[in-house]
Amino acid sequence: MQFPHVTAAAPWARRLTLFATLLVGVSLLAGLAGAQQQTFTPRDESPEEYPAGPGRDETFYSCTACHGFKLVAQQGMTRQRWDDTLVVMTQRHGMPALEGSDRELVLNYLETHYPPTAAAPGGWQNPFLNR
Ligand code: HEC
Repeated sequence: MQFPHVTAAAPWARRLTLFATLLVGVSLLAGLAGAQQQTFTPRDESPEEYPAGPGRDETFYSCTACHGFKLVAQQGMTRQRWDDTLVVMTQRHGMPALEGSDRELVLNYLETHYPPTAAAPGGWQNPFLNR
């Protein structure tokens, strides 16, 4: 005995199943990505990986409460823009405000080791300078 209506419904049902599977797959992936972000700990990096100098550890630990120091170290900015960045981290992201001598220490470190990267004549940047 044949059930034509069942076989007629099958391609549609299969597509629905495929769609549901994709949906589950995508949300699993998104969940994984989120979990990976949340499991970042400062232990993944250490201050010793960055240029030694006054304020290094203070700067490292202030910033790695939330994100990798690599995110900081790949920037090059003037002292003023580093200061603005600290304001953004505090106002937008809830970083405890750095004030007084702590702020000086952190800004000195950032200004000294992560200044704006000047483009070399011809637009080429020596990858071995600065970092
Ligand atoms: C309370 C959490 C928190 C702390 C502490 C923190 N940040 Fe951030 N920071 C963030 C978040 C969230 C982002 C990514 C979102 C964004 O850029 O708006 C970010 C992004 C950045 C970026 C990249 C911005 C861009 O435009 O790509 C820089 C540079 C930065 N932070 C510097 C610092 C420095 C320097 C410190 C330490 C002195 C610090 N952050 C501490 C939360 C924080």
